[in-house]
Amino acid sequence: MLNFNRMIDQNVLSSSELMKMEDKYGAHNYHPLEVVLSKGKGVYVWDVEGKQYFDFLSAYSAVNQGHCHPRIISALKDQAETLTLTSRAFYNDILGRYEKYMSEYFNYDKILPMNTGVEAVETALKLCRKWAYRKKGVAENQAKIIFASGNFHGRTMAVISASVDPSSRKGFGPFMPGYEIIEYNNIEEVKKAFQDPTVSGFIVEPIQGEAGVVVPDENYLSEVRRLCTENNVLFIADEVQTGIARTGKLLATCGNCSCTNNCENKPEVKPDILILGKALSGGVFPVSAVLADDEIMLCIQPGEHGSTFGGNPLACKVAMAALDVIKDENLSENANRLGIIFRNRMNGLIAKTDLVTLVRGKGLLNAIVINDTPESKTAWNICLALRDNGLLAKPTHGNIIRFAPPLVMTEDELNECCDII
Ligand SMILES: Cc1ncc(COP(=O)(O)O)c(C=O)c1O
Repeated sequence: MLNFNRMIDQNVLSSSELMKMEDKYGAHNYHPLEVVLSKGKGVYVWDVEGKQYFDFLSAYSAVNQGHCHPRIISALKDQAETLTLTSRAFYNDILGRYEKYMSEYFNYDKILPMNTGVEAVETALKLCRKWAYRKKGVAENQAKIIFASGNFHGRTMAVISASVDPSSRKGFGPFMPGYEIIEYNNIEEVKKAFQDPTVSGFIVEPIQGEAGVVVPDENYLSEVRRLCTENNVLFIADEVQTGIARTGKLLATCGNCSCTNNCENKPEVKPDILILGKALSGGVFPVSAVLADDEIMLCIQPGEHGSTFGGNPLACKVAMAALDVIKDENLSENANRLGIIFRNRMNGLIAKTDLVTLVRGKGLLNAIVINDTPESKTAWNICLALRDNGLLAKPTHGNIIRFAPPLVMTEDELNECCDII
């Protein structure tokens, strides 16, 4: 039997001992790949035995700026030594600056700061319902929100109520009323759903990340935008995973060029409510945000929504540094350029082997589909082999492997990774 106390005292825990410790003392709500990381820098992570890996997951796109980016860590350290949390009971000297910065950066009147991605999603759903009653004139408790099948918006009760994934839902009922789920990437279904005058919002991921990097048709989002405007329905974009330069643009709902400039957030696709999280903090700790214009945001009044940690000065400083890095290091452009190279290299692989059937994605959010059933172990075993060869990635939905490296990767590094794959 392992003597954890002795080993902790000596500070000499091996990977295998650390995994056993998690297994014994931690809830079993995850099934991690067997590698225990203790250090990260840029595109690299190291395990406790000192082996170096390319990180090809980036904490599900939270570490877009690379691990431990010096500018973000420096902002964290400076603010941590000054003021970390006041709660919203009082003003602090950073929040207003951050709100101005965010509103200008993303071109909305206002931001509502939260912490995790799912909290921001919940906030957007609440905001949508308030707007439905205060502005659209829907009768109390009748507002309906539309979701897309295959969605992943997080793990709270309100959010899993809209999931179609049995492992997210089963055993957690009863579920939230007032939702309807329609097929993703199907404009006819949107038109049909919007005939109901109680429909107040449509929440959608511009690319479905957890579903296996499912990219909708080119005109899907602009059609959704048009139909939302026509039917007085709020277009709510969950860009928790796709936002912050990941897909080769500042936001996946931006226009077609790859620049990080707000000019590309064209009115014809601009969401009414934008949800951000993950890389908003460069992976340093949870920072999320909901952005909207006054007409919508001011529907929530004092006392109607909040969070002890939302908008804390530490988070605000970290997020501003994280977004400065995105612009100053041209990470959208880099993601766009490297994404094209990556998909070309993977298509080359597909031509040579029938183990991989498809590569899809945008920017540096990509996935390959393995030629086996979702129940098979093939994708998992490929990820183990990738790990042994110095690259970390994880399957999603059994036979799909998502590839999402930090956006600070160089072309040479990307090519080295493609050689490994
Ligand atoms: C699109 C999307 N929305 C929301 C979330 C939930 O974010 P969090 O895990 O920070 O709550 C995720 C997480 O993967 C996500 O991909």
